[in-house]
Amino acid sequence: MAIAVTALPDSKLPRVGTTIFTVMSRLAAECGAINLSQGFPDFEPPPRLVELVNEAMRCGRNQYAPMAGDPQLLEAIAAKVLSLYGCDVDGAAGITVTSGATEALFAAIHAVVRPGDEVILLEPAYDSYEPAVELAGGRALRIPLLRPHFAVDWDRVRRTLSPRTRLVIVNSPHNPTGAVFSPSDLDALEDVLRSSDALLLADEVYEHMVFDGHAHASLLTRPELAARSLVVSSFGKTFHCTGWKVGYCVAPPALASEFRKVHQFVQFAVAAPLQAALARFMIEQPGHALELPGFYQRKRDRFCQLIEATPLRCTPSAGTYFQLADYSAVSDLPDVEFARWMTRELGVATIPVSVFSDGATAERLVRFCFAKNDPTLDAAGERLARLAQIGGP
Ligand SMILES: Cc1ncc(COP(=O)(O)O)c(C=O)c1O
Repeated sequence: MAIAVTALPDSKLPRVGTTIFTVMSRLAAECGAINLSQGFPDFEPPPRLVELVNEAMRCGRNQYAPMAGDPQLLEAIAAKVLSLYGCDVDGAAGITVTSGATEALFAAIHAVVRPGDEVILLEPAYDSYEPAVELAGGRALRIPLLRPHFAVDWDRVRRTLSPRTRLVIVNSPHNPTGAVFSPSDLDALEDVLRSSDALLLADEVYEHMVFDGHAHASLLTRPELAARSLVVSSFGKTFHCTGWKVGYCVAPPALASEFRKVHQFVQFAVAAPLQAALARFMIEQPGHALELPGFYQRKRDRFCQLIEATPLRCTPSAGTYFQLADYSAVSDLPDVEFARWMTRELGVATIPVSVFSDGATAERLVRFCFAKNDPTLDAAGERLARLAQIGGP
């Protein structure tokens, strides 16, 4: 017997459907395409980390972890934040371990945004921000990043700020564009916010993927910004284990306390053996994160070189494990249609960039994920090179 709903209220998120990441990964599987769409590695986490999870499970770390996080993991995160960003946080009071960065973003938005509040987003924007703002009763104001380098229009941010602005959401390194903040962006952000009470939500999940010798310009490097910020990161990105969904949020204690009020009723506590293992791994191998820029830069360079042999055009990403490519030389199709065509006809799945904006864009850009083994990238490159012979749709 099928269950039929008798009274369905109006949707709270009428514009939201299945995310493009699910759609493209499904299409990739159906077509046997190489999946460079959704952002996850096709290689394994460090073997020692997996061993430590197994060990934690065998040693009885199988019941609820403390609500805010495993104390050892909170300490390990605090030590990292101090050594990399010079930010002295009391882990017990200011850091909360969450079920991925996704939960941290949701809890942060719900901790501070009230009905009628305005929230500034920089577009293209990661897809989870706006639905969380809407569910909290807030209104998202989208400011386009400036082409061609996807820089922030700080003057426009200044003009958009008002007494109604509760939160400004920033994301560096930036998904999907690969743009990163420089220290002068942090100067501008400090300057713009000086006359405002707005809080900041910084999505820094790609903090360890910044290339070409630059350092990650974390908001935690600036006391003035850190004092009004919730800074979010993701172990999934750093340790090649996106499926574990473990992240964290760093905030001043008073803000962390509000954050935890939401976290404890969304998630309560995050998988205990994963936290125990991550803590031990961070203590044993503090160098892992420091090797990521070189590791991913080599993959970026390999992928960009492969793209050079095709009619696609790209400017190498400054950060993240994503690379944008312009396909205007081969097709005029809107990016969603082009991405579907490319998955079916060329056997390479990507993400159309317009899905990160509110409505269609005139750009002809798709996003590739290069967090893949070299043979996967090479095979994708070979398939993409066929564009030169067959042309676009
Ligand atoms: C910019 C950005 N923020 C947040 C997330 C979510 O991270 P997690 O998988 O830890 O929830 C992602 C994942 O792709 C992302 O790209």
